[in-house]
Amino acid sequence: MFYELAKRRRSYRKFSNEEIDEDKLKKILASGLLAPTGANSKKIEFVVLKNQKDIEVASELKPMGSAFLKEAKVAIIVCCDKSAPTYRQDASIAAAYLQLAVEDEGLGSCWANVIGARYNDTKTSEDYLKDKFFIPESFHIECVIGLGGKIKEADEKAPDFSKIHYNRF
Ligand SMILES: Cc1cc2nc3c(=O)[nH]c(=O)nc-3n(C[C@H](O)[C@H](O)[C@H](O)COP(=O)(O)O)c2cc1C
Repeated sequence: MFYELAKRRRSYRKFSNEEIDEDKLKKILASGLLAPTGANSKKIEFVVLKNQKDIEVASELKPMGSAFLKEAKVAIIVCCDKSAPTYRQDASIAAAYLQLAVEDEGLGSCWANVIGARYNDTKTSEDYLKDKFFIPESFHIECVIGLGGKIKEADEKAPDFSKIHYNRF
C-alpha cells in the first residue's frame, strides 16, 4: 500500500554494512527513471557511485549536511539536462521516487541538497560535483541521494491534517 510506504519513509544518515543487492539497486534506479517529467522530456540522468572513494569525494560537496554520505553504500547524483523546461521539478520528483523505492526495498536513504550550496568561497557544490564526476555543464544537479541498509527502523511519520484546507485556505 502506498500510504504505508509514505508513512514509513524517513531520512537515514547512518547505514549498516549490508551490501546492496544489484537487483534492488536496479529497481530503485528504474523507479527514478519512471518518474513523470514535464512535457515527457525525460532528461533525468543519474550518476551512481558504488565505490567508497567516490562516495567519500561526493560527501565533501559542502561543509555541512553531506558528511553522512560517507557511510552510504551507494550514492546517486540526480541530474537533469537544463534544456528540459521543468528540469528542477523533474529532478526533485525523480529524487523523491528514488527515496520511496529505497524504502520499498527495505533500505534507508537521505537527500543531500546541492541547489544553492557551496563547496567553498570560490566554487559551488554543483561545480565541485561536475568537476569530480565529469558531469556536463549543460546539466542541473539537484541532490545526491545516499542509501544503504538500515541499522534501526525510524518511527513512522504522522500527517498533520491541519495543513489541509478545503475550498478556501
Ligand atoms: C529538498 C531537501 C533537501 C534536503 N537536504 C538535506 C541535506 O542537505 N542534508 C541532510 O542531511 N538532509 C537533507 N534533507 C533531509 C531532510 O532533512 C529530511 O527529509 C527532513 O528532516 C524530514 O525528515 P524525514 O525525511 O525523516 O521525514 C533534505 C530533504 C529535502 C526534501
